[in-house]
Amino acid sequence: PVELNPTLLPLEWLLGTWESDEPGEGCFPTIKPFRYTETLHFTHVGQPVINFMFNAFHAESKKPLHRECGFIRMQPGANKVAFIIAQNSGLVEIEEGELTGQQLNLQTHALARISFAKEPHVQQITRVFQLQPDGTLEQTVSMATDNQPLTQHLHITYHRSS
Ligand code: HEM
Repeated sequence: PVELNPTLLPLEWLLGTWESDEPGEGCFPTIKPFRYTETLHFTHVGQPVINFMFNAFHAESKKPLHRECGFIRMQPGANKVAFIIAQNSGLVEIEEGELTGQQLNLQTHALARISFAKEPHVQQITRVFQLQPDGTLEQTVSMATDNQPLTQHLHITYHRSS
């Protein structure tokens, strides 16, 4: 096993594989509420970078739905964190934010999409990762689209599976 790059020590609690406990809840004013399961993988190879993959499935049909993957970097000597993200919907994104203890608050810093991305287009994303005192991990995602202000889209809790 390769030693974690010291730049990333503040994010060590994130490393590993996380699986949803109860199905997560998806909502938005324009869609039917839905339930989903999700697995998160956070790994590293000794670089000052965390590699991640998030795979989500419909809770009832088990069909693969949303997938995203990318890299996490931390500004050395600061609590600033950047997520570099590619989503299967055709979106690429940079989210930046702050690490406070074991809570990460991120928001869109840059966003681009394929020319034939489905509408409405996302304009802004915010997300919070929070390690709970009981060791579970919580993620909450909000988004703004062409026709809706910033509103919650996702909420889910995971337990560490490895
Ligand atoms: C709908 C964006 C993550 C499942 C949508 C819509 C957008 C969107 C723009 C359409 C809203 C509308 O029609 O007004 C995103 C973004 C995500 C994300 C930016 C990540 C940051 C997820 C995840 C799931 C999911 C993890 C889990 C399965 C759905 C479903 C719908 C939906 C089921 C409704 C049906 C559909 O339009 O496909 N999402 N989403 N999304 N999203 Fe997400």
